[in-house]
Amino acid sequence: MVNYTCKVCQKTFAQKGHLDDHMNRKRPCKKDNTIETLVEQKVKEVLSKKEKNDIVNLPETQSNKMDYSKKTREELIAICKEKGIKGYSSKKKDEILKLILDSSLENELILNSSTNTENVDPSKLKMIDLFAGTGAFTLAFQSTNNVNVVFGNDMVEHSKVIYDENFNHKLTLKNLNDIKVETIPSHDILTGGFPCQPFSIAGYQEGFKDERSNVFWKILSIIDHHKPRCVILENVKNLVSHDENKTFNTIKTNLEKRGYHICFKVLNTAEITGIPQHRERIYIVCLKSKKIFNKFNLDFPKIEKKKISEFLETDVPQKYYYNNSSSTWNLVKSNVVKKDTIYQYRRVYVRENKSSECPTLTANMGGGGHNVPLILDNKGIRKLTPRECFNFQGFPSSYKLPALSDSNLYKLAGNAVSVPVVKLIAERIIPLLLDPLLQ
Ligand SMILES: C[S@@+](CC[C@H](N)C(=O)[O-])C[C@H]1O[C@@H](n2cnc3c(N)ncnc32)[C@H](O)[C@@H]1O
Repeated sequence: MVNYTCKVCQKTFAQKGHLDDHMNRKRPCKKDNTIETLVEQKVKEVLSKKEKNDIVNLPETQSNKMDYSKKTREELIAICKEKGIKGYSSKKKDEILKLILDSSLENELILNSSTNTENVDPSKLKMIDLFAGTGAFTLAFQSTNNVNVVFGNDMVEHSKVIYDENFNHKLTLKNLNDIKVETIPSHDILTGGFPCQPFSIAGYQEGFKDERSNVFWKILSIIDHHKPRCVILENVKNLVSHDENKTFNTIKTNLEKRGYHICFKVLNTAEITGIPQHRERIYIVCLKSKKIFNKFNLDFPKIEKKKISEFLETDVPQKYYYNNSSSTWNLVKSNVVKKDTIYQYRRVYVRENKSSECPTLTANMGGGGHNVPLILDNKGIRKLTPRECFNFQGFPSSYKLPALSDSNLYKLAGNAVSVPVVKLIAERIIPLLLDPLLQ
């Protein structure tokens, strides 16, 4: 334990005699900014955080942090490359060192903020929710009472706001590509409604070569490191047919290569949950155990749809209503004529949904006021409110909507998975994962 510190240069000594020698040396010490001091300060910072938070799985030991100061610039660059740390070129040795130390500290902070590793009930399955958005996967799996979500991630601020408002643990706000796999807590289940734009035809050749350009490769590297027993991915319906099935085949082959048995199906919220939203999404359930795979399927019975009116609010603020000052008033007024029916404004026309369903809610529906579905109620013609969009995605009334702009709330709702669809999957898969005879 260090007890004696030089008041000038902050160097510390275990014995008083050593400090005296230091004070009496020929060339007096100066206020110090050397690499060693920087290292020690950083290590102290990290250690004090560690003590406070009892971090698990510390990604680097104290000793190898100390060792960095003794490394050459070239060795530090090699470490940067290995750890995926950018921005080292044309930097001096101590600047590169700082980059490395900052990155280590940051990764520890990720562990701290991903919270739920404390007080985790060991009898429960551990889950991570990637591309978490609203946290619909978290909500559905936690509702089984057999799952602890130990890590939630998204890279946009409004996802963090809504997620943190609704759960006891905090969402880690960061681009997943910049998170080191070893800093993610170990888990049994990985869920993710991953973005699929990078799988464009143009991106096909390049996208599959460059691991960082496509989050699917990042998901695979997390799987390689943590080997979860179950991976559940969600995406748009046409993922299967995209690029002449090449995209889906690449996804499937890469998961199978890792020993997963794969069950997938397009599920429509309106058919299997009673919620009248037409929403067809592909769910891909990947299972390590063949025994569990043999007992699992994604066939859910069709059930009767509830009425649209059950999902609408009463006493809706005036701002959601159309009036004759709106440029689209005449078009809207002449088309939106029936109650308990949802209409869609489509650039130059208004379309009635004839199946007593809400059309698929989309992420861009709030942008510029376009595409938010319309209805006629006792007061007039109006857009669905953000809360109503969350209702059509099956979020319970206890799910809180924070004070974000309407366009952000519409986006979050349109991007989400339907909670009751994921609940059906969770309620079917969790008992199988917990069954000791099926491992
Ligand atoms: C389709 S949404 C998923 C919504 C979520 N499943 C839900 O139920 O709310 C995709 C999400 O991935 C996030 N995202 C996209 N690329 C990301 C990345 N590289 N790192 C972290 N999050 C990312 C987006 O911000 C968005 O919230």
